[in-house]
Amino acid sequence: MRERIRGAVIAVGNQKGGVGKTTNTVHLAAALGQGGYRCLIIDLDPAAGATRHLGVPENQYAGTLELLTEREAIDQLLITEGLPHGVHLIAARPQLSELDAALSKFTDRSRLLDAPLRAIRRSYNFILLDTPPFAGATTTVAAYSVAEWILLSAFPHPLSLGGLSEAFRDISDVRTHRNAALEVLGIVFSNVDGRATRLRAELEAAAAIALPGRQFATHISQAVLIPELSGRGRTLFQLDSYLRNPVAHQYLRLAAEIEHRIRHRSLFLSGNLPELAEGTLCVPRALEQPAEPAMQTVTGD
Ligand SMILES: Nc1ncnc2c1ncn2[C@@H]1O[C@H](COP(=O)(O)OP(=O)(O)OP(=O)(O)O)[C@@H](O)[C@H]1O
Ligand SMILES: [Mg+2]
Repeated sequence: MRERIRGAVIAVGNQKGGVGKTTNTVHLAAALGQGGYRCLIIDLDPAAGATRHLGVPENQYAGTLELLTEREAIDQLLITEGLPHGVHLIAARPQLSELDAALSKFTDRSRLLDAPLRAIRRSYNFILLDTPPFAGATTTVAAYSVAEWILLSAFPHPLSLGGLSEAFRDISDVRTHRNAALEVLGIVFSNVDGRATRLRAELEAAAAIALPGRQFATHISQAVLIPELSGRGRTLFQLDSYLRNPVAHQYLRLAAEIEHRIRHRSLFLSGNLPELAEGTLCVPRALEQPAEPAMQTVTGD
């Protein structure tokens, strides 16, 4: 039997605003959840995008602020009900913006997530950290300092190149100063308009030069349903018809690519990991073997 992935910590980044970080965080967690994995999302943004996208009312729950100021233990803060299958959440709320004032002057801000994650890490297969759109924010620094992986999000927009270059510089700084083990899991291009192929090709080429081997075979298409569902506090995976939704399929495929890279970390980092077989998806629950999370090749759809 294959060894299960345990406690893989993925910071979802690119500190340019509005580039799909939150949407990717909640949909990838939900896709991995469909594959039978247990995922924890920690919402590190005072704007509480992931919390709202998951339909959790802001201000009703203690969450990230209490976690990082050590007012409550992590297991007291988990939201486990009403979320996509396999997904738990530590919620954010606007008061998280007061985190710096609430911390002692003598706290090492970059290490704020270390102890809480140590306590819970083994209980989840994947822990996804949704970061705010500021590289200097205390929670971004803490996320980049503790994560083993960073997943970059980008929309194919003419201004994306500048944002990505800045993200590459941030990552290189983190590796130099804070966390030498941080590795780029890949760059997800989402909100992709099928007509803008040239722009996407240019961005992908630039990204391939800066970060060879970190492209994904899968991109996420533009879908008006996503912002619509986000406003209703739902992901694509909470639709009865999600198996017929092409973007849900793209997320299942991306989740499988991510699982493949993390499972075969050394091969991936040395550039020797073979591409995932075409058609491999995070197994939809309906097709899943009980109690055995796995990726499977789903054919004929
Ligand atoms: N595939 C998609 N198709 C259409 N709209 C999308 C898609 N992905 C994301 N969006 C929309 O784009 C907007 C920005 O996405 P999102 O909130 O995920 O970005 P973000 O990087 O988390 O933003 P911020 O930096 O402000 O936290 C949202 O309105 C979201 O619903
Ligand atoms: Mg966000």
